[in-house]
Amino acid sequence: MEKIKIGVIGCGNISPIYFTNLKKFDFLQVAACSDLLIERAKARANEYKIPKACSVKELLADPEIKVVLNLTIPIVHAEVDLQILTAGKHSYAEKPLAANRNDGKKVMSEAKKRSLRVGSAPDTFLGGGIQTCRKLIDDGFIGKPVAGTSFMLCHGHETWHPDPDFYYQKGGGPMFDMGPYYLTALINLLGPVKRVAASTKMTFPERLITSQPKNGTIIKVNTTTHLAGVMDFANGAIVSMITSFDVWSAGLPCIEIYGTEGCIRVPDPNGFGGPVVVFKKGSKAWAETPLSHGYSENSRGLGVADMAKAIISERKHRASGDMAFHVLDIMQSYDESSDAGRHIEIKSTCERPQALPAGLGFGQVD
Ligand SMILES: NC(=O)c1ccc[n+]([C@@H]2O[C@H](COP(=O)([O-])OP(=O)(O)OC[C@H]3O[C@@H](n4cnc5c(N)ncnc54)[C@H](O)[C@@H]3O)[C@@H](O)[C@H]2O)c1
Repeated sequence: MEKIKIGVIGCGNISPIYFTNLKKFDFLQVAACSDLLIERAKARANEYKIPKACSVKELLADPEIKVVLNLTIPIVHAEVDLQILTAGKHSYAEKPLAANRNDGKKVMSEAKKRSLRVGSAPDTFLGGGIQTCRKLIDDGFIGKPVAGTSFMLCHGHETWHPDPDFYYQKGGGPMFDMGPYYLTALINLLGPVKRVAASTKMTFPERLITSQPKNGTIIKVNTTTHLAGVMDFANGAIVSMITSFDVWSAGLPCIEIYGTEGCIRVPDPNGFGGPVVVFKKGSKAWAETPLSHGYSENSRGLGVADMAKAIISERKHRASGDMAFHVLDIMQSYDESSDAGRHIEIKSTCERPQALPAGLGFGQVD
């Protein structure tokens, strides 16, 4: 079978789960890894038996590598994506696609010019939990979607992440960091967004790191850290959304979708599994429903694996650049809405990604 060779740029905190999971897809091979800190790349290569640890330049010059996985920090996602595309390789990056709409546009137009693919995390919407919700909606279980809620409230990442500064810079904050999980899940379930409105603010101008090794370091915050917004979807559903790094604790569900015939409580879109809980018109209580799809364990990497298989099969990939750009456009429009004090029409759009078939085992994407 043809194997697609993948190179990885960025060997930090999130990379181990990718190295672990990508080994399980027999149509791809991680051929090389790199990082600005070469010792980091060498350590990962050693641990995960990757044939080559090298500089970014060397990785991009390798003619065998067709797809590059960009696991760097958000502020350089676009710059690294552009390097990848300019080297003639397909690019798949961690979320968000870019730190702002203009950088995202540059990535998308470079890919178009070169007939290369852009893919982007999150791929959690391909997990068993959200694919089960997608099937319920597509099968008409809740009737016509009317409305929804989307809540992600916590106190940020400086208590656990080893290097949390980027979460408080442009391209970070709760919307750019966590919003992609929620917005991608919602777009997969409901389709594209037409317009948004929001109020945003920054409550704490400084953050104290309490994780190791930077315990005691102060971060100057350069992004909004609380957002309350509303989205009008093209299908007519209206979804209320809060993302916050300013709240110690909240008792709100992650995502709920309300339809003319029933409701779905969608599991945490920052994970792959369930539970999926439903309410049918006329019933007395919410009830958990079994998952119809596989990939309910931590399957990070599924999105880039699907893109590799899509290249081989010459079909569309699911975690697409178009969807990631639409997500980016929505996120930036939220901030612009708060500044302007009015709704912002969303100019971009995207297709709902094709649903995954039910019953796939780990390693299969179609
Ligand atoms: N840590 C998590 O739990 C987590 C979860 C989901 C998604 N993500 C996303 O994954 C991405 C990476 O996060 P992380 O936690 O691994 O960050 P990290 O800081 O731990 O790792 C990033 C790595 O990229 C390298 N790097 C930075 N700029 C580079 C460049 N120009 N060229 C080559 N290497 C470069 C850094 O040296 C570092 O090793 C982010 O977009 C983040 O939003 C992280």
